Parts: sequence; structure tokens; C-alpha cells
Amino acid sequence: MSDRYAVIGNPIAHSKSPAIHAAFARQTRQDLIYDRILGDPADFAGEVSRFMAAGGLGLNVTVPFKEQAWALANERSSRAELAGAVNTLIRLADGRLRGDNTDGVGLVRDLADNHGFDFEDARVLLLGAGGAARGVLRPLLEAGLKRLVIANRTAIKAQELAALGVTCGPVNGCGLNELAGERFDLIINATSAGLADAVPPIPDDCLIAGGWIYDMLYGDAPTAFQRWGLDHGAAQALDGLGMLVEQAAESFHLWRDVRPDTAPVIALLRHPR
Ligand code: ATR
Repeated sequence: MSDRYAVIGNPIAHSKSPAIHAAFARQTRQDLIYDRILGDPADFAGEVSRFMAAGGLGLNVTVPFKEQAWALANERSSRAELAGAVNTLIRLADGRLRGDNTDGVGLVRDLADNHGFDFEDARVLLLGAGGAARGVLRPLLEAGLKRLVIANRTAIKAQELAALGVTCGPVNGCGLNELAGERFDLIINATSAGLADAVPPIPDDCLIAGGWIYDMLYGDAPTAFQRWGLDHGAAQALDGLGMLVEQAAESFHLWRDVRPDTAPVIALLRHPR
């Protein structure tokens, strides 16, 4: 019988994870089945334990269950610990659950490995201080950057997040309205403003000439923040599709101990045949 994995979330119908993991499994000749589960917000723990009891070996966890998965895990990686959220559950040999978070490493690998961004000495601005920003904090701080500023509409949340990250690297938090005079090599958008086709209000000149922007959102057309980047002289204005595939590849590696080649899978999602 094939090994079983799944992604659990609510909503889940549009998740690309089953297609991504099916492509990884084909490519690496792994015999596995990867389903999608529409999670019940009132019974997340029950659903996970039923899936694992029926032979499931691992789960990807998405909105709105990442914090519940963090609480459910019997042990956690240090990056999941700081994230306060788990997007990957691994059933250990003794039946206990290990929680990890592969979002941040997915972001860093997409930028550095797929696009050649050099984190060494980079000044980076992270917009947002919600779950998406917190989820990527530790790997970002460990990527070798010179300075990370977390800026958020609600300043106190950015300060609190920076305080959590400060043992891992050079980070400050502030309000969006405190960025005047600051210049960054890379601006990462981890706010949900783009869901309403909006852009966080930041100074027009806070991206250096030839700087990069990265929107953790993605869609069929350029996102509002990608358009902002192109209008403000960005040399690269990337969306979050590569991050999605890279976080999936890291989960696949955790489960299967095989690292898939992500480039053909990113290309397949960009241009479905
Ligand atoms: P997620 O899990 O996607 O991070 P979240 O935890 O609700 O969702 O956080 C949403 C983030 O987007 C927050 O940082 C929020 O700012 P506030 O903390 O001030 O609410 C930010 N955000 C949402 N809409 C925004 C907008 N129109 N402009 C700027 N920031 C916005």
C-alpha cells in the first residue's frame, strides 16, 4: 500500500499542494498518495489523529490551523518554535508528532537559490507582523543579512515580533509611518493587504535603485505589491509561487529524505500544460 500524506486547511479546494507533491513523487519515484482534507475548525486534533491512525505519515497544515498544529505537536524544530506555527507534521516511529515550519526556508531558498539574491550584508524590510511574517522570521535572520526591519501598520506588533527574533539576528520593529529616510535592498511583503489589491503605505524611496521586492502572495497576474515594485525601480519583483514550491520541497525532504528538483515544478505551475 502507498504511503499517505495530505494537506489540511479550510478552505482547501484551491490548494496547489497535492499537484506539487504528486509532481515531486513522480520525479523522485516515491510511491505515495497525497490528499487534501477540508479541516473542521472545531475538531482539528481529532482529524489529525484519525488521519495518522489510518496510516498517515505526515501532513501539511495551512490556514487556519498552523497554530493549532503547533500546539498539537509533541516536539518542534527551533524554526517552528519561533514561528509559533507548524506547517508540517511528521509522524515519528513511536507515533508521536513532530512539528516543523518550512515557510521561511522556502522563502530564503526561492530568493537565494532560484533567483540569486545575495543576503550577505543586505538591508531587508519585512512588511507585516502577523502569522505570515512570524512564520519566516528565523530562517530570514539566519540567511546572513546585515539588518532586518519589521514594519507594521500596528507598530507594537512589529516591536514584539522583533523582540522575539532578536536572539537570532539583527532586527528592529517599527510602524509603517517610521520608515522615512530608510533604504532597503530587499522589501518582503508579508501583509494581507494584497488580498484587497492594496499595498502597505511605505515611502516611495525606501527601495534602493535596483533593489528587489518579494510578495509572499501570488496569483495569475502580478500582485499589487509586484506592481508597486516595478513602478519604483525594482530590478526584480517576485511573487510567492517559488516560496510555495520550496516550502513543499522541504516538507517532502523531511518526510522522504529525498530532495526534489523544484525548478520543473515551479515551471509547471507557472505554465500548466
Ligand atoms: P497572516 O497570517 O496572513 O499574516 P494576520 O496574522 O491577520 O494574517 O496578519 C495580517 C498582517 O497584514 C498584519 O501585519 C496586518 O497589519 P496589522 O497588524 O496592523 O493589522 C497587515 N495588513 C493587513 N491589511 C493591511 C493594509 N491594508 N495595510 C497594511 N498592513 C495590512
